[in-house]
Amino acid sequence: MENIKLNIEKSLGFVSKEAIKSYATRTAEANKMLHAGSGKGCDFLGWIDLPSSVQTDFLEDIQTTANILRNKCEVVVVAGIGGSYLGARAVIDALNNSFDWLQKNRKNPAILYAGNNISEDYLAELTDYLENKSFGIINISKSGTTTETALAFRLLKTLLENKAGKEEAKSRIVAITDAKRGALRTLANLEGYKTYVIPDNIGGRYSVLTPVGLLPIAVAGYDIKQLIAGAVSMEKVCGLETPFEENPAAVYAATRNELYKSGKKIEIMVNFNPKLHYVSEWWKQLYGESEGKDNKGIYPAAVDLTTDLHSMGQWIQQGERTIFETVISIDKANRKVVIPSDKDNLDGLNYLAGKRVDEVNKMAELGTQIAHVDGNVPNLKVEVPVLNEYYIGQLIYFFEKACGISGYLLEVNPFDQPGVEAYKKNMFALLEKPGYEAETKAIKTRL
Ligand code: PA5
Repeated sequence: MENIKLNIEKSLGFVSKEAIKSYATRTAEANKMLHAGSGKGCDFLGWIDLPSSVQTDFLEDIQTTANILRNKCEVVVVAGIGGSYLGARAVIDALNNSFDWLQKNRKNPAILYAGNNISEDYLAELTDYLENKSFGIINISKSGTTTETALAFRLLKTLLENKAGKEEAKSRIVAITDAKRGALRTLANLEGYKTYVIPDNIGGRYSVLTPVGLLPIAVAGYDIKQLIAGAVSMEKVCGLETPFEENPAAVYAATRNELYKSGKKIEIMVNFNPKLHYVSEWWKQLYGESEGKDNKGIYPAAVDLTTDLHSMGQWIQQGERTIFETVISIDKANRKVVIPSDKDNLDGLNYLAGKRVDEVNKMAELGTQIAHVDGNVPNLKVEVPVLNEYYIGQLIYFFEKACGISGYLLEVNPFDQPGVEAYKKNMFALLEKPGYEAETKAIKTRL
């Protein structure tokens, strides 16, 4: 099997090879700290050897639960937000047919999402849609108290119980949460739902290879054993034994930190395949929550190309020169579409006749890279042989490991997210949640 590869060649005109190499000792130390649990946030390192420690019977148990939902449900709603949502969506969207949920006579349940916003319109439209469907719910919340998710679950649970009856609803609801704590754990125990545990030592944004990601991915019809196999192989590639130049996580962490030091404050994750939109969303959370603290951190942004070349392309080419790009480049398309010849050639496209669409996309990718590098935008590339479970598993582990190393190079705690609480405190004060009386009083003086 090949591996995904990191190519930093097109960033070397901006930072020197020597400067990148000079990180070898520091990245090795950071990697060691991650494995030894001797750095900041060391209570949240359960993801480090997670792939290689997953047992086959555990994956089989998840598959059995997935099969129950697959047999009973036309639609499965995954309720969760942030780390309890983005990983599953990233993998499912990357693998799914782009028109998946419009397919008739489907062999897999459609996966819909809830609990990731508080839009009344969204929830009304979702519950309307589910009214005539046999549906199930995977409710995911580590804390078990997240308002967005709890609110959506309350509505969905009520609808399901009213439609299918309490007993049947119970068999179509799975809760993924803390082993002991939180409102969702209490509710699940009381109702007798099937549950899975989010380990204490794995934070939300590092949890995609736990049941948080694995169950929805298996329900959607994808091979979780292959996903884990890919992650296992990357665990080895990014391990302590690998020399700096051969460890893509170390080189990526080094390069982006050196670019940051040189004034490149924004990293744009780029894809040339709309299926990767949510991989970028997952990556944004992983890096944004891990590094954006202590008044530091690269701002993680993302574009889908060529779509956004017709909107953000102008800014990227000629705006403030504080950006660099990391392109996820897929070597081979999974499907084949050949451009037909046209006798009138009114659109002038006959010069492309006989070529595959992917050849045109690849030239757009290359042309964009040359243009952006000429426009002083350093480019990194993550080369992925093909979009499948195995390589997505590799991609996940590569980005997770690089994020841990990068956070330690930046001297922040890559495993906490204290800033996330600020909006919650204000929202609870404004909603006059019991226990927030003092905050309510204080915030009202500011209105
Ligand atoms: O990374 C994080 O910790 C957050 O994004 C959480 O995943 C998110 O807030 C959801 O939390 P919970 O799983 O407790 O509902």
